[in-house]
Amino acid sequence: MQFSKSDFSKRKAADVLIIPFWKGEKKAELACEEKGILSGLKGILEDFCAKSCKCSFYYPPSQKEKRFLLLGLGEKEAISLENIRKAYAAAVNFCKSYSIKKANVLFPKIVDLLYEDLVQAVSEGICLANYTFQELKSDPKKDPVFLLQSASLIGPSAKEMQRVNYVKKLVSGVYLTRDLVNKNADEITPSNLAKIATNMAQNHPKMKAEVFDKKRLEKEKMGLLLAVSRASEREPHLIFLSYNGDPDSKDRIALVGKGITYDTGGLSLKPTPSMIGMKADMGGAATVLGVIQSASALNLKVNILGVIPTAENAIGPNSYKLGDVYTAYSGKTVEIDNTDAEGRLALADALYYTVKNYQPSAIIDLATLTGAIVVALGEEISGLFSNSILLTEELQKASKKTGELLWPMPVHDEYLKLIHSDVADIKNAGSRYAGSITAALFLKEFVKDFPWVHLDIAGTAFLSKASGYNPKNGTGASVRLLIDFLEKMTPSFFKELKDVRG
Ligand code: BES
Ligand code: MN
Ligand code: ZN
Repeated sequence: MQFSKSDFSKRKAADVLIIPFWKGEKKAELACEEKGILSGLKGILEDFCAKSCKCSFYYPPSQKEKRFLLLGLGEKEAISLENIRKAYAAAVNFCKSYSIKKANVLFPKIVDLLYEDLVQAVSEGICLANYTFQELKSDPKKDPVFLLQSASLIGPSAKEMQRVNYVKKLVSGVYLTRDLVNKNADEITPSNLAKIATNMAQNHPKMKAEVFDKKRLEKEKMGLLLAVSRASEREPHLIFLSYNGDPDSKDRIALVGKGITYDTGGLSLKPTPSMIGMKADMGGAATVLGVIQSASALNLKVNILGVIPTAENAIGPNSYKLGDVYTAYSGKTVEIDNTDAEGRLALADALYYTVKNYQPSAIIDLATLTGAIVVALGEEISGLFSNSILLTEELQKASKKTGELLWPMPVHDEYLKLIHSDVADIKNAGSRYAGSITAALFLKEFVKDFPWVHLDIAGTAFLSKASGYNPKNGTGASVRLLIDFLEKMTPSFFKELKDVRG
């Protein structure tokens, strides 16, 4: 996707001109400054309602574009960067089934928004929507999706266009995450995930990768990750991918992503409808790789340690067993109450290894961890669990800015009783009550007192239906959130984090 800039009068021919409108009291109002565009086009304003994200084609006589795309932005008073992202994404989605390659794009005039932020929101909306995953179709031409190939933005200065470059780098990580989630589970296996991380490191001087194979996991006594992987033909791995953007600093954020490349549930086998989509159970891992991809493209001045426990939760004669007790890397013993609560097991060993051996400044895990969080928050909001008010607040700020929604959930220690075990130190699951909270409490047992956030992205990583700028299936959600968060990781923030811990 190529972006360029131009003046209205000097714009080149294109397949479509995207024209933004406000929803007025009686009729639509042109939202951009290029008023001349509507002269001679009677009736347009009466017929178009300009509700947010509404799109309509109009075929004007003798213009540089074959079509005008009338784009509704909704009411002027309610406008936000997120509404702008969604509206321009809607315009791109509207074009996808037509053979539209080139677009000229007009911007709304909004006095109380920084123009640069507007340029970023428009280009984010366009880029996030201009995605398709056709790899698994034998003949994509049979059911074509026409992506935009170029967009000429009308109005921005050269300096403001720098935001477009920023967006392209940012979105490269989102696309990576989406692709990894959308590919077959038989392609994105634990060892292939390890290869992908290793390749990333080979191609970037600021990255380093290290991979623990099964032998090493056995040597380290990572009993939980090993248990989860037992029924699979595929060996488990623990992948480390670091990005060192600030070599002078010792501060480092650890991002730990659940990398279950397929989740059958194990002996606690999932029924068919629940198993569909379980190739996306490595969504946390894909997000970690996506964030590191974006961070390196953007050359962020921050140190990131990506950690990915990866395995396949298969079923077979060598399955780990309900009622049996396995020993974690931390030494804690865990009674298996449900082999489908495998993510927390894999994460527990990764989290404890990370805090023990790396002492990160903060640790954030991302996991498609519980169906319960989807019941509670749906597909548009991730659940946030944390022991740190500072980290929570910082992520909430990033959420407001990026439109990637979060909701803080209670880490209610009393509920540890729900995963109390009579035979071991703890059980891996309880009843259905407070399922997302008990999962978070289980993880918390393995992070000591490090500042920690757990994002349950079971709803947001993989959509059953396209929504806004996110396509159906893999969304890459949380990549933009975390990049915004990582950009705020200044020495003074790290100092504050330390001061709070004492
Ligand atoms: N990977 C699933 C969670 C999930 C559910 C992700 C729906 C995406 C969509 C996880 O491993 C799981 O199976 N969790 C169980 C836990 C239960 C057995 C305690 C669940 O949520 O039912
Ligand atoms: Mn499971
Ligand atoms: Zn799972």
